[in-house]
Amino acid sequence: MTTPRRVVAITGAGGALGAAVARQLAAEPRTDLVLSDISAPSLDATVEGLPDTGGGVATELADVSDFAQVDTVVALAVERFGRLDVLISNAGVLSANGRIHNLADEEWERAFRINVLGAVHGIRAAVGVMRPQHAGSIVLTASVSGLTAWSHAAPYCATKAAVIQLAKVAAVEYARDGIRVNCVCPGSFRSAIHADLPQEAVDAIAERHPLGLGSADDLVGAYSYLAGDASRWTTGSAMVVDGGYSAP
Ligand SMILES: NC(=O)c1ccc[n+]([C@@H]2O[C@H](COP(=O)([O-])OP(=O)(O)OC[C@H]3O[C@@H](n4cnc5c(N)ncnc54)[C@H](O)[C@@H]3O)[C@@H](O)[C@H]2O)c1
Repeated sequence: MTTPRRVVAITGAGGALGAAVARQLAAEPRTDLVLSDISAPSLDATVEGLPDTGGGVATELADVSDFAQVDTVVALAVERFGRLDVLISNAGVLSANGRIHNLADEEWERAFRINVLGAVHGIRAAVGVMRPQHAGSIVLTASVSGLTAWSHAAPYCATKAAVIQLAKVAAVEYARDGIRVNCVCPGSFRSAIHADLPQEAVDAIAERHPLGLGSADDLVGAYSYLAGDASRWTTGSAMVVDGGYSAP
């Protein structure tokens, strides 16, 4: 009897974290990937950086704020590889720098549409395939900003807190369907998300991490664990991987 392959879909796969997780999971046994992002050049760069392990790779451009586009990503997994075992809902954006009274509704709506509704869309699409399979693992990317206050980033903090709660409720709702739902709460690591921040702001963020600013590769172990069978009794967890940021 041949061991079945594992099919993993990742949103935001063109970014620093999505690409690092894709590289990690591509290197694990019997894994096929469906990689998705809103940006074609970023997605292409991720595919070029994958190790050549013989696993299947399919790509789909998708805006996570549109359910139909996320559903197409999941449908591609089924069409190309026959199933979906793991969804990593990772696409996300930082909100504009500003205090609450200075941020317009449009800024709140953008953050909620991408960070919260994007994760909701991922769950909705994935459970459509995972419930009939009676198996699946969904991993959302939250942030330590969903647990601790970051001044001038209220929409980001509020949306990431919502993602943590979403993972918990989904874990309870879908446990009997054989589906686990967890989230990772990263501290700050180098990526394009900080590109618009002034250097002194980045330095101040780094200063607040006892182990220093992270890199996306520092986070892949958490995703590997939550995606895999080693975490088979873990659901509803918010795994903090933050270089000690939230410890004090
Ligand atoms: N970098 C950090 O310090 C940090 C810390 C905690 C959490 N996070 C979270 O990690 C995740 C990945 O971020 P990153 O740091 O790798 O940033 P990144 O900007 O490198 O990657 C984010 C990716 O999401 C994509 N994206 C943006 N809007 C999208 C949309 N509407 N639909 C589909 N894709 C979209 C972007 O094109 C990009 O490729 C995000 O959810 C972010 O909030 C980042």
